[in-house]
Amino acid sequence: GIKMKLLLLLLLPQIALASLQIPTKEFQFQASLNAVIGNSTRPDVRPGMVVASPSRQNPNYYFDWVRDTALTMRSLIDLYDAKRDPKLKKLILTWIDAEIFRQTLPTMTGLGEPKFNVDGSGYTGPWGRPQNDGPALRAISIIRFARILLRDGEQDYVIKKLYNSGSVIKKDLEYTAREWTKPNFDLWEEVKGMHFYTLLVQHTALQEGAKMAREFRDDEAASRYEAEANKIARGLVNRFLDPNVGIRTTVDRVEGIDYKTSNLDAAPMLALLHTYPYQKLFGFNHPQVRKYIDTLALTFAKGYEVNKALPDLGVGIGRYPEDRYDGNGTSLGNPWFLLTLGLGEYMCLLRNEVRTDRMDQMIEKQFQRALFHSDRRGHMSEQFNQRTGHMQGAVDLTWSHNAFLTAMMRCH
Ligand code: NOJ
Ligand code: NOJ
Repeated sequence: GIKMKLLLLLLLPQIALASLQIPTKEFQFQASLNAVIGNSTRPDVRPGMVVASPSRQNPNYYFDWVRDTALTMRSLIDLYDAKRDPKLKKLILTWIDAEIFRQTLPTMTGLGEPKFNVDGSGYTGPWGRPQNDGPALRAISIIRFARILLRDGEQDYVIKKLYNSGSVIKKDLEYTAREWTKPNFDLWEEVKGMHFYTLLVQHTALQEGAKMAREFRDDEAASRYEAEANKIARGLVNRFLDPNVGIRTTVDRVEGIDYKTSNLDAAPMLALLHTYPYQKLFGFNHPQVRKYIDTLALTFAKGYEVNKALPDLGVGIGRYPEDRYDGNGTSLGNPWFLLTLGLGEYMCLLRNEVRTDRMDQMIEKQFQRALFHSDRRGHMSEQFNQRTGHMQGAVDLTWSHNAFLTAMMRCH
C-alpha cells in the first residue's frame, strides 16, 4: 500500500547502493580485523591504547574507552588462542603494559574512569563517571590471556606481571570487590544506578578471579571474591527478573536520563555475550532470557522502518526503544551494528543448547542485515539510520568491527 511505497522511497538511496554487491562474511572478517588492528596501532596514540573510532569530530571518538578496549582485546585474545599469531601476541602484551600504566594514573574516579586521552592521560571534561564495568571487563580479558600463557608454560611472566599482590588483575578485582555495591553509570554512559550489565560482568570477573586466586594460593582473596560474586548473583536473580520484559536493565536509578520507561535494553544481551563461557546464572536458554530476547527483537522489528521495509533480512537492533542518541547528537535513536550482530551471536550460542529448524537461517540473516547496511567495502560505523538505512555516527567504530569478529568466531 501507500505506506510501503513511502518506505521504498525513503530507502531508494540504499537500494541504488544495492548495485554494489553485499560482500561475503569472509571479506568482512578480514576488513574488520584490519580495522580493529588499525585502530589499535595508531602512530599518534600511546602504544597499547585503542581509539574507539578514527573520527575526530562529529563525533569526536578519538579516545580510548576502557570498556571498548577490554572487549576489543578479548576478541584478539580469543583469536590468538585459535591461531597463536606472534603479531597478535605482541599487540596484546603492549596493551597490557598500557593498562598497567593507566591503572597508576590519578584520575577523577580512579579505576572507574571510563575514557582516556590518546596521550594516556585521563579525560577530565564532564562525563558520566564512574563506569564500573571497565575494570571487570579488563580483568576477564587478562585472566583469559593469563590462562593461555599458563598453558603455554609462561608461568614466570604471569606471576611477575599479571597475578601478584599489586598486579593488573588484582587491582581490578580489589576495585570490583570493593565498589560493586555503589551506583555508577551504565555502559551507554547515560544513567547512574545499578545495572544488569555492569553487575553481571562484575560477578563474572570476581568468580573467575576467585578461581585464579585459589590456584595462586591467594586464599583470603579467593574467599572474599567468591563471597562478593555470590552476593552479586543473589541481587541479580532477586531484582532484575521482570514479568513484562524478562530482564530489566537498571534498578535504583539515581541520576541521568529519565525517559527509559520500558526498562528494556540490549545491554543485558551484551552482558550474556561478554561473560561467555564463564557465567552460569543466566544461560542462553533460561526462560526469562528467552522472553527478554524475544521482547527485544520484536520491539525493534516493529519500531524501526528499515526492519519493516526489508523483513527478509534479520532484525536491526538498537540500544533501547526510547533512545535519542543519533551517533553525534540527540534526535532519533537507530539500530547499531554491534547489537544487530550481537543478536546473531546470541542465537549461535543458544544453538549450542537447543536447535530449532529456522535457527541457522535466522543467524545468517543477522549477518546479512549488518552487511546490507555497511558501505559494502568493509566499513561499519556505529549505527544505521532507522528510516533510510544509511550508516551514521562514528566511522569504523572499533566495537562494530569487533562485534563482527566475535560473532564470526562464535558462530563457526
Ligand atoms: C550520549 C550517548 O548516549 C552516549 O552513549 C555517548 O557515550 C555520549 N553521548 C558521548 O558520545
Ligand atoms: C558510546 C557508547 O554508548 C559507549 O558504550 C561506548 O563506550 C562509546 N560510545 C565509545 O564507543
